[in-house]
Amino acid sequence: MDESPHVPVLLESVVELLAVRPGGLYVDGTLGWGGHASAVLAAGGRLVGTDRDPDALAAARARLGPDVELHHARFSALPALLGGRRADGILLDLGVSSPQLDRPERGFSFRAVGPLDMRMDPTVGEPVWAWLDHVGADELADVLWRYGDERASRRIARTIVARRAEPEVEPLRTTRQLAELVASVVPADGRIHPATRTFQALRIHVNDELGELERALAALPECLAPGGRLVVISFHSLEDRAVKLRFRELAGEGGERDLFGRAVHTPGFRLVERKARKGDDDANPRARSARVRALERIA
Ligand SMILES: C[S@@+](CC[C@H](N)C(=O)[O-])C[C@H]1O[C@@H](n2cnc3c(N)ncnc32)[C@H](O)[C@@H]1O
Repeated sequence: MDESPHVPVLLESVVELLAVRPGGLYVDGTLGWGGHASAVLAAGGRLVGTDRDPDALAAARARLGPDVELHHARFSALPALLGGRRADGILLDLGVSSPQLDRPERGFSFRAVGPLDMRMDPTVGEPVWAWLDHVGADELADVLWRYGDERASRRIARTIVARRAEPEVEPLRTTRQLAELVASVVPADGRIHPATRTFQALRIHVNDELGELERALAALPECLAPGGRLVVISFHSLEDRAVKLRFRELAGEGGERDLFGRAVHTPGFRLVERKARKGDDDANPRARSARVRALERIA
């Protein structure tokens, strides 16, 4: 029984797709509370891990022990941290962890009152409230639309920006204030809280989550040893699309073909499975939107 406050999603699939072999070098770019990482260690792998959240890193350190190589870093820094070492497997389990969502002081959740922060790494960058103090309405609406599929993006953005000009109204500083503001302009549809999409979009934006993923997808495949696998779990359709397209490109799909339909350039990678595995059957509710894909280096 996993006692950690974060239940790792698709755990069996991840262990199977990574094909952990004793003594191999495995990288967990998103340690979180160390659930996947401890399964890798239990299967005999050696581990290098990163997390950008100092709280997660401390929790992973406590769980995994002092001898594992852990770094407080973004996973886009992994090529530099590995310094030429080739990995037999790399895992990215994107998005936020349950403890990040559940701790009001981190400001990720509209369900509790907390500072409107949402940074995974609170030691760098701008919290959401600071960005909302100066962003223009058009840019804000674009973020809400692109990362949240929020149909009321323009209305929400205009309301937030207009509020800044009202001298009597206190500035937006807490999760509760933002949740109430959004609920006042977005009609409730009875399924999800009206602020769900806004919170998701702002989190993706302040943490540059898609930029991080893009940099990782560009550089991490080259960090694999022959036979090594890159396994990515995503929770957002934009993330899964980026993973799918990059993996297909590296596996030579859609590339130049000769008269017999054979790839003109021999690809250096292959898709471990054509379709993403889904987290639907997982006991963890977070897993319902999860998709996992794996790529293997051939040469
Ligand atoms: C879904 S949780 C990972 C849970 C973990 N697999 C487990 O089993 O406990 C995602 C973690 O990745 C971290 N994270 C997200 N983006 C990151 C990035 N670009 N670089 C490093 N860590 C990141 C978050 O801080 C969070 O702790």
